Amino acid sequence: MARIHLSPPDMSETERDLLLGAFDANWVAPVGPDLTAFEQEFAAAAGIQHAVALSSGTAGLHLALLVKGVQPGDVVILPSFTFAATANAVAYVGAEAWFVDSEPHSWNLDPSLVDEALAAAAAAGRRVGAVITVDLYGQCADHAPIRASAARHGVPVIEDAAEAVGASWEGAGAGSLGDVGVFSFNGNKLMTTGGGGMAVSADPEVAARIRHLSTQAREPVLHYEHTEIGFNYRLSNILAAIGRGQVRRLPTMLARTAEIRATYEAELGGLPGVTFNPIDDRGTPNHWLTIVVLGDDARCRPEQLIAALDAADAEARPAWKPMHRQPVFAAHRMFGGAVADDAFARGVCLPSGSSLTESEQDRVIAAARGALA
Ligand SMILES: Cc1ncc(COP(=O)(O)O)c(C=O)c1O
Repeated sequence: MARIHLSPPDMSETERDLLLGAFDANWVAPVGPDLTAFEQEFAAAAGIQHAVALSSGTAGLHLALLVKGVQPGDVVILPSFTFAATANAVAYVGAEAWFVDSEPHSWNLDPSLVDEALAAAAAAGRRVGAVITVDLYGQCADHAPIRASAARHGVPVIEDAAEAVGASWEGAGAGSLGDVGVFSFNGNKLMTTGGGGMAVSADPEVAARIRHLSTQAREPVLHYEHTEIGFNYRLSNILAAIGRGQVRRLPTMLARTAEIRATYEAELGGLPGVTFNPIDDRGTPNHWLTIVVLGDDARCRPEQLIAALDAADAEARPAWKPMHRQPVFAAHRMFGGAVADDAFARGVCLPSGSSLTESEQDRVIAAARGALA
């Protein structure tokens, strides 16, 4: 009986053929035709004009902050309820992360608290370098009011769409909702290249700046000429070949994760105290992970559910631990916090990868029912 993971890579002959094609042509590295094609095909699928393939989503966030002019000593406003990479990127540029709570009906950044944080920064005479939104667990944040507040203060919005490939909000694709969008193709994401990321923007200059900085800021001359500090953040051609296959299969993978969520809801939703990560019906999430939320009347606690699944050789994890509860960010400002705290205390991520078979999901459901029924 093989262990069931949360969201393992979902690979097929398509990815394998493209990977071997790149290998056989010796386009292992560095840049090559698959890299260019991956960027174009990804941008077309996501409905975004410009895309730059990078070594990780974290690299994308770092470059997005630099390109949008975030300076050491600036404040950057972002949700507490996210993965540490969002906040780490803020530290890389020497800015100070101010955390904001989520909305209960979506678990995404609360626009009214963003407004409050922007006003507090203005009152304190602090420059705000950027607001980073996060499309948590594959559901887009409510960007319109956040963008409006940020625009009033002249602040750019960076969309951390690391978890949200293929999601949309009122018809607009994830990644297109801020001034710059960033995706992750980490091994645990819905779409993966083993490791990788993509920065996207409607602004050609932003994309060109990110591309330049990601390739050691090398000037386009014959010899090696540099006028600023660059980074080695470009994706390799061989990994881009895998990404091209994943883009082709994205619609199928999205259909499967939606089906997985629906099956969990049907099989576990009627049990006492059991609900799921909230979905705002203005958006179409990618259902990267389905998270079960255990109320006070649930038959077991989150750690007992995780142990029950582990006994059935299935991985389950708590929801993200909020950044304002992380020792490394404990001294940072936080606006609100009850929603993120509650989601962390009650949420358990269930195996949700698009390669999860029906019999594997049956095994997860049986183990979960054993603990919750
Ligand atoms: C919300 C969020 N932001 C950023 C990242 C960083 O992406 P990467 O692992 O590709 O650096 C991740 C995932 O790892 C994430 O979940």
